Amino acid sequence: MFAATLDRQSSRAETPDDLFEAIATLKKDLNAIVLAHYYQDPDIQDIADYIGDSLGLSRKAAETDAEVIVFAGVHFMAETAKILNPDKQVLLPDLNAGCSLADSCPPDAFAAFKAAHPDHLVVSYINCTAEIKAMSDIICTSSNAVDIVNQIPRDRPIIFAPDRNLGRYVMAETGREMLLWEGACIVHENFSEKKIVRLKVEHPGAEVIAHPECEPPVLRHANYVGSTTALLKYAKQSPNSSFIVATEPGIIHQMQKEASGKTFIPAPPTNSCACNECPHMRLNTLEKLYWAMKNREPEITMSETVRSAALRPIQRMLEMS
Ligand code: 13P
Ligand code: SF4
Repeated sequence: MFAATLDRQSSRAETPDDLFEAIATLKKDLNAIVLAHYYQDPDIQDIADYIGDSLGLSRKAAETDAEVIVFAGVHFMAETAKILNPDKQVLLPDLNAGCSLADSCPPDAFAAFKAAHPDHLVVSYINCTAEIKAMSDIICTSSNAVDIVNQIPRDRPIIFAPDRNLGRYVMAETGREMLLWEGACIVHENFSEKKIVRLKVEHPGAEVIAHPECEPPVLRHANYVGSTTALLKYAKQSPNSSFIVATEPGIIHQMQKEASGKTFIPAPPTNSCACNECPHMRLNTLEKLYWAMKNREPEITMSETVRSAALRPIQRMLEMS
């Protein structure tokens, strides 16, 4: 079925010239909402009904009364929307839009890890599969992880999965030990401390703002650490006028729109590229989004057993934050 979709997508003659108009019409026809993460292409952000970080997107997915949710983000995000909305159709423009962090935590290995520490409470970052969520007690995102861990009784041991960098950051902020799953994001792991230091010398007035998925040597240079929404808010409110941005550069589109006149410099990766795009997020395109709505596929599906088990820790997160 998915191969057939690709065939249809590749018949360019059928693709409307004005994708913005065609998508707007489909939104009305399907009673659909388009939710987009800040790491999506600028065109996708511009046609979205809501743009946000993982927490904002989960909240929006939980409250929407649209019949179809078109999720412009990666698989675990669309999956979360489906967990919250079993009766709605959730479409993802490219089903291959995965996440290296989610992939770094295979369910079988995690089940064994959890079984070896039966007294631990499992707090999982939302960047994980539905199967991992189903094995978790509480889900968190980068914007509420510190707050959630602070609400857990201090004598309760915690497993934190799958991101070791966010886990280390939460440990430093809360002053408590946690057992970390050794996962990481290929994008945030790849920022070059050396090149960031060089940029700071070239732009002495610029503040470094970073996502907590970055490694400790990069976070040490940050004037502010936060989720994508928090970074955007900080850049808008700060009296400073230039920023070195250590997260996926898609966020810079909103920064330039909402804080026009300020300068945003993407933090460089260790390779020869000028910026550090997430290869998974960038699989989605405006054209694929159009075809997903037109064909009503690819669609997110999962077993009811996994869905209902994964729902509980997400609901706990929404209640706690
Ligand atoms: P946010 O919580 O800022 O949306 O982070 C999502 C993400 O994938 C970061 O890599
Ligand atoms: Fe996953 Fe990293 Fe891409 Fe975020 S930036 S979706 S954590 S691979």
